[in-house]
Amino acid sequence: MRVLSGIQSSGKLHLGNYLGAIRQHIELQREHECFFFVANYHALTTVHDPDEMRARTLDVALDYLALGLDPSRAALYRQTDLPEVCELAWILGCVTGKGLLERAVSYKDKLDRGLSASMGLFCYPVLQAADILIVSADAVPVGRDQVQHIEMTQDMAGYFNNAFGRGEAILKRPEARLNQAYTVPGVDGQKMSKSYGNAIDLFDTPRNTRKRIMSIVTDSTPVDAPKDPGTCNVMAILSLMVDDDERREWEQRYRAGGMGYGEVKKRLADVFEQVIGPARERRVKLAADTDYVEDVLVEGAGKARRAALPLMERVRAACGLVKMKAGGR
Ligand code: TRP
Repeated sequence: MRVLSGIQSSGKLHLGNYLGAIRQHIELQREHECFFFVANYHALTTVHDPDEMRARTLDVALDYLALGLDPSRAALYRQTDLPEVCELAWILGCVTGKGLLERAVSYKDKLDRGLSASMGLFCYPVLQAADILIVSADAVPVGRDQVQHIEMTQDMAGYFNNAFGRGEAILKRPEARLNQAYTVPGVDGQKMSKSYGNAIDLFDTPRNTRKRIMSIVTDSTPVDAPKDPGTCNVMAILSLMVDDDERREWEQRYRAGGMGYGEVKKRLADVFEQVIGPARERRVKLAADTDYVEDVLVEGAGKARRAALPLMERVRAACGLVKMKAGGR
């Protein structure tokens, strides 16, 4: 299966981002042909500061490489190194009704949050469709909020094939693959989110992280009393990071009583450190070797281009966007 996903940096990553999406992305590289890209054209809809753009682009690459993306397995590239996505987006836009885009929930949400209604923001789903269709992806791992965009991508593939395919499916219909079925709670028990201020940052210092974990809100059941593992925020996070045996052990200890929340928190802090500690170190090393990171991105773009360029030839030919004489272009 060919898997593709785009990542738009929203600043510092937190544990919810990792457990909710990145971990699944990285696991996919073991069994599938994966394409992951830094969606910097998409970021341009909201980021208009060049320094911030550069920093965010690098951050996504560092985060993914540090957390285990293996460039020999998965292609990691910058969207702008495949500028043909803009060409395909134009072509898709020419067969897509404006009404489809007007129904996009994420566009309406963004306007509600005060973003200005630029053409880029409005056409965001068309560019996203181009990202996916240009490499003929089978599956797109995304969060629930992106499912509508994938459905729109399916529609756009259909519009194009109907208009220009002459019975052939030139553009492949992709399927969404939901990243997660659970919510990761933050330190206050609400869904972990940067904007709620309840996040456990992924790449903070070990000391701050430990403090943050110790501050997770729990109820005030006394140490001796039995506790409910099903309603405890610490347990909710821990069970996403340990194996089933360990999870069951903790559940028994909760129910038996005689265990304080401090003990589970300590274990969570240790597990966090086991999982994220090595990534934190790798990230520091990678950040000091941006030439290597650049090489990875360029090589990743090469892989994406090998998939995309032959398809673009077919797309242009199907539309009659060709030279008069063979051997041009
Ligand atoms: N819109 C996606 C997000 O905000 C990012 C994205 C851009 C993407 N292009 C994509 C995701 C293509 C999947 C496939 O998360």
